[in-house]
Amino acid sequence: MPALPGIKQFNLHGKVAIITGGSKGLGEAMAAALASAGASLLLTSRNADEAAAVAKDLAKEYGIKAVGIAADVSEPQEVDAMVARAISEFGKIDVLINNAGINIRGPIEELTFEQFQQVQNINTNGVWLCVRAVVPHMKQAKSGRIINVSSTLGLVGLALRSPYSASKGAVLLMTKTLGLELAPWNITVNALCPGPFLTPMNESIANTEDAKKNVIGATALSRWGRMEEIQGPAIFLASDASSYMTGSALVVDGGWTAR
Ligand SMILES: NC(=O)c1ccc[n+]([C@@H]2O[C@H](COP(=O)([O-])OP(=O)(O)OC[C@H]3O[C@@H](n4cnc5c(N)ncnc54)[C@H](OP(=O)(O)O)[C@@H]3O)[C@@H](O)[C@H]2O)c1
Repeated sequence: MPALPGIKQFNLHGKVAIITGGSKGLGEAMAAALASAGASLLLTSRNADEAAAVAKDLAKEYGIKAVGIAADVSEPQEVDAMVARAISEFGKIDVLINNAGINIRGPIEELTFEQFQQVQNINTNGVWLCVRAVVPHMKQAKSGRIINVSSTLGLVGLALRSPYSASKGAVLLMTKTLGLELAPWNITVNALCPGPFLTPMNESIANTEDAKKNVIGATALSRWGRMEEIQGPAIFLASDASSYMTGSALVVDGGWTAR
């Protein structure tokens, strides 16, 4: 039995990660996690100043190289430019975290088709576009870690979330298919399914009866996730520690889907 590599499996020094939606919420928390493990970062959002500010803070705090740029994941040309920037800045891409996402809630008859399409364009099409753009570089390197942020709501239903659930369910099956497709190049593709975290996405529902009953109330632990509770799972999926995991999903939901 070889000596256990222990904590070294989680080391990300020398690795380069793109994190979409890295300017706030879970994306910012996962960016800090990967920076703390030594990774260099390209962070994106639709707001260049916000992405650049987070990158600057993380570079200073962790002594890593980090760049923040604007790139809308639903726009193919912007996604291609994002990947080109990562290559020009860092020369390679080891990790892609497809985290950017939105949620538009409401009764189906009150939602517009444009709202439904907007959620699919960002949450589902954006994941597909980003994977398509990084794969040539990962195939050349015969190595890669792709992490698609789905949701508890890709696994179970919740009323008033029809656009969001549709998008996150699609991401889960896309993850399985791409896990199979890209395995010959040693590229792993996994989903991360968070339960409820109190990020900007959830601020508008934080104090509602619906959230108390159907969101927090649906978790076994009866609370929001803390931002640090997504960080270990993100490092795990980005690192050598998850090398025998692909086409799969890591659920970090306070026990929501245990019911
Ligand atoms: N919070 C939760 O409880 C929870 C639970 C399960 C899954 N998730 C998933 O986790 C991910 C992060 O969620 P969050 O709660 O951290 O949301 P958030 O606080 O609203 O942050 C979303 C991030 O995505 C960026 N973004 C949105 N649309 C984008 C686009 N078209 N192109 C590029 N960036 C875009 C946002 O920046 P800009 O708006 O400036 O572009 C921001 O950086 C999402 O995929 C979400 O569905 C969240």
